[in-house]
Amino acid sequence: MDLFSNIDLENARTRVEELTKLIDHYNYEYYMNDRSEVSDYEFDRLLRELSDLEQQYPELKLATSPTQRVGGEVNKTFAQVQHRFPMLSLGNTYSIEEIEDFEARTRRLIGDKTFDYTCELKYDGLAIGLTYKKGELVQAVTRGNGAVGDDITSNARTIKTIPLKLRGDYPDDFEVRGEVVFPFDAFEAFNRQREAEGDEPFANPRNAASGSLKLQDSRECAKRKLQFCAYFVMGIPEAMARPDFATHEGRLEALKLMGFKVMPYVKRCKDIGEIKAFIDYWDSERWNLPFGIDGIVIKVNQVQLWEELGLTAKSPRWAIAYKFKAARVSTLLESIDYQVGQTGIVTPVANLTPVSLGGTTVRRATLVNADNIKALDIHYGDHLLVEKGGEIIPKIVGVDLEKRQPGAEAVEYIKTCPECGTPLVREEGEAGYYCPNQDGCPPQRIGKLEHFVARRAMAIDTLGPERLKMLYANGLVKNIADLYDMKAEQLIGLGQEQNASIQAKGADNIIQAIEASKKVPFERVLFALGIRFVGEIGAKKLARHFGNIDALMAATEEELATVEDVGEKTAQLIYNYFQKPEHRAIVERLRAAGLQMQSNAVRPTDGPLSGKTLVVSGVFSHFTRDGIKEHIEAHGGKVSGSLSSKTSYLVAGEKMGPEKRKKAESLGIPIISEEEYMKMTDNE
Ligand code: IVH
Repeated sequence: MDLFSNIDLENARTRVEELTKLIDHYNYEYYMNDRSEVSDYEFDRLLRELSDLEQQYPELKLATSPTQRVGGEVNKTFAQVQHRFPMLSLGNTYSIEEIEDFEARTRRLIGDKTFDYTCELKYDGLAIGLTYKKGELVQAVTRGNGAVGDDITSNARTIKTIPLKLRGDYPDDFEVRGEVVFPFDAFEAFNRQREAEGDEPFANPRNAASGSLKLQDSRECAKRKLQFCAYFVMGIPEAMARPDFATHEGRLEALKLMGFKVMPYVKRCKDIGEIKAFIDYWDSERWNLPFGIDGIVIKVNQVQLWEELGLTAKSPRWAIAYKFKAARVSTLLESIDYQVGQTGIVTPVANLTPVSLGGTTVRRATLVNADNIKALDIHYGDHLLVEKGGEIIPKIVGVDLEKRQPGAEAVEYIKTCPECGTPLVREEGEAGYYCPNQDGCPPQRIGKLEHFVARRAMAIDTLGPERLKMLYANGLVKNIADLYDMKAEQLIGLGQEQNASIQAKGADNIIQAIEASKKVPFERVLFALGIRFVGEIGAKKLARHFGNIDALMAATEEELATVEDVGEKTAQLIYNYFQKPEHRAIVERLRAAGLQMQSNAVRPTDGPLSGKTLVVSGVFSHFTRDGIKEHIEAHGGKVSGSLSSKTSYLVAGEKMGPEKRKKAESLGIPIISEEEYMKMTDNE
């Protein structure tokens, strides 16, 4: 449906209801039951139709609408919220004896009443509490210190397994607690993407989950495939007085019926034997789960007994957590490989005598970097201690000193690149070495090609990594500009040795995809060049700021550093990149091939801000930093990164530094607030 088509409010209301129901249903089937009932295309079409209607009739847009899942709300800071019911933690232990003690004590305290336990997984994520009123999600708060947490509602709404509206029979006003986890596959994909954009990867899924919930822009949170595992309900006694709430198991079942994702790995255990069997099972089986757990939680199943057992200072007496120890073995370091990554970073990798650890055989493990080898004081022929914790990837944590051979020598790090022989470089403050031969070192050249064709760059998806390696090996493509000189005839028959010979049709498809990439907008071309530290967002900002490649290539380091999010280091790297004649030659060849070298963002020249140059500073409540810049440009104004005599206004957000204010005052530049700015542009 077109935006603003002829539909009156009443018909729109009916259609919005219909669409909401349908989309909610598809979402439920997809996220709760792993069932896909429509194509992605059809789903997106329905969602777009709903979103268009909501835009046309904002009064029809509800906080529980499935369109809210994509995020959009921006948090400057997260409001601190007092928990209605304190979020207690659990007593925890690494010792099975303490679990035995817990069980014996519980049995003694309960006496001769019949009862049992539920054992479930201890999810390794971030605990949050969700308040539902009349079946609608109204607030999501992190655990914080147990008494006060952060209001992360707008980010929580983007998590698909958190229902915005409940189904079936739910208490009028209550709280559901659970853990937000980052499943391993989504976490891995997300980290790889970060690396590709030059961002530091997260150390583990838990940190990434926690960082995600604290993102200011909920649209960013929506992109991360977080999951919510529900494990607890809280409410006033009246809300909790229902027969199915009498046991913890019943509560989990009820949560499932309300639409929550409740993990199926829950077991009712009648005695310590069954509890221990459950613990043992998951201690080895945990590696096969799609997300991380760090132990097992054992709870008395009968809720009535909870009150009788009561609380200690911080935690209930009716539950305990058993924490898994990291699995650890010692094995021989046979040799060290030095891998050169696509960005030139050298990673030492240990080849180990194969050893079984946490359900898999470990043959290789990263030694991370030169500093790490030194810190662990690894010698040739050492036996290394390998550990597998909640993070799945085995980690070398130390040396088994008892097995060190007399006279063994400390590992000496390589001095030259194993791929191209160039002396390695280490920068101030960096823990590892890299090969500086960006344009000549084979893995770096192939890496640049892979980056260039990636979906988020030039999107030449008929050229995967294998084909690129083949083109490189055949000497057809050495750099990104060579791609545009390729002819279909040159491709036909390639790859015979690998049994993946390219046929005429395949060759045509490749050439066509390369041809199509000439339409890719400038900002993505800029990202595709693979300048170190210039990620997707940075490229967008640079493209918008400079407008075209010539202005960018002519910019000084100082000018580059005025662009938002471009630090001094990145500015220097961009500057150096364009100083190299071979890079300029590539840009010229790409330009000649017909790639977009100019931003096509339309800049209206007439508007309330035409002829004006604005500088923005601080944090805004109606806009993100990018948002206000776009808004200024959409109203005919220009945005500048720094104050000068040419600046017309300084738009001051919250937390603007005093230096900026002083400078503006000394230059006589009017300082306006966000509200004044909105009035000026008529808040369109
Ligand atoms: S029950 C009053 N169940 O472990 C008891 N907690 O210290 C409420 N956790 O902060 C917690 N998985 O973040 C419970 N299946 C599970 C859990 C779980 C993880 C976390 C939770 C809590 C901590 C215990």
